[in-house]
Amino acid sequence: MATMESLIGLVNRIQRACTVLGDYGGTDGALPTLWEALPSVAVVGGQVPVFLLCFCCRLSFLDTSDLISDLSVLLWGQSSGKSSVLESIVGRDFLPRGSGIVTRRPLVLQLHKTDEGQTEYAEFLHMPKRRFSDFSLVRKEIADETDRLTGKNKQISPVPIHLSIYSPNVVNLTLIDLPGLTKHVFLTNDAASTEGQPESIVLDIENMVRSYVEKPNCVILAISPANQDIATSDAIKLAREVDPSGERTFGVLTKLDLMDKGTNALDVLEGRAYRLQHPWVGIVNRSQSDINKNVDMIAARHREREYFATSLDYSHLASKMGSEYLAKLLSKHLESVIRARIPSITSLISKTIEELESEMDHLGRPIAVDAGAQLYTILELCRAFDKIFKEHLDGGRPGGDK
Ligand code: GDP
Ligand code: MG
Ligand code: NA
Repeated sequence: MATMESLIGLVNRIQRACTVLGDYGGTDGALPTLWEALPSVAVVGGQVPVFLLCFCCRLSFLDTSDLISDLSVLLWGQSSGKSSVLESIVGRDFLPRGSGIVTRRPLVLQLHKTDEGQTEYAEFLHMPKRRFSDFSLVRKEIADETDRLTGKNKQISPVPIHLSIYSPNVVNLTLIDLPGLTKHVFLTNDAASTEGQPESIVLDIENMVRSYVEKPNCVILAISPANQDIATSDAIKLAREVDPSGERTFGVLTKLDLMDKGTNALDVLEGRAYRLQHPWVGIVNRSQSDINKNVDMIAARHREREYFATSLDYSHLASKMGSEYLAKLLSKHLESVIRARIPSITSLISKTIEELESEMDHLGRPIAVDAGAQLYTILELCRAFDKIFKEHLDGGRPGGDK
């Protein structure tokens, strides 16, 4: 029976085929339209959505927004360790650092698990031909690409940077890192600007965040620091507002190591302080001095694991704490969301195949030979995708194949 991994692998192949196809954009009369719609996939992210958008935006005969709205994870919480959490989930140190608002464009990060022993590399959607294996260059490119759009005047843009990381050390997952503000009450109508930040930036960020979280099933990674009162957490404010029942919020508590001696966060971690449907996950990221000393991510993960295993307060929770556990929890959740969507996606794909076949008939002559072959490859992948989905449907019920 087809597994979710093979499904996701197939989606990745389709994406790559689409990316290659995109290289023909602009050089041929028939193909630019094919590619033009694709950059909009960056807004949503997620492996299945990218595939669907490739075809549906392209052929523009179906509105997929209902289907695809939920397969992403948004990080939220002010100066709570968002970027650190993201880096420890990936197991790599690759985000720009500095003072002020460092994250000025959303980062849509797709993680792809590869086979053991494979070399890790990263790829940007805006430069599909280049493979980055030096992650300090990834950091530089994120910074440069941010500046390319926002200028050097440190403006904020809601247009995301789309980055894929291929690695044996990650799980299949899409994460969206967002700019944060130093102080602002989220989603209120008082347009108060924070110190030194123009009002328009505050509103830009709010609108950006709103556009993600308003999608009913967007997963929110609500990140709060343990050394601050949870009642004043921005992340919890957001959760309370857009997800009052706590169904799609994952509560993450960082900086456990920075709590005052003699206190602990069991009230939060055991769900008494703020109740969510999913269990809270405690995290210990690298401190600023660790970062300055270049403590690497793998060492940091080990240390985090050791912290929980040997903690007097948290050892009974150790197997459900830490960034590795958080990554697995999220991946599992997204998988169940995809599964629930399979019936509607299947019918969409059948329709897409029909459209694509008639498209092939129409295009035939005017397109370049290579491009035609690419289109054909996509059609073939699409058929294979359809087959796997159907196998899922057959094998996935009743009870599913956990
Ligand atoms: P962001 O603004 O939410 O993206 O937060 P960052 O990930 O950039 O972290 C802000 C600062 O807090 C950095 O100096 C981190 O090293 C530090 N930090 C984040 N998480 C932890 C943690 O769990 N423990 C400690 N000691 N420091 C942390
Ligand atoms: Mg950040
Ligand atoms: Na790419």
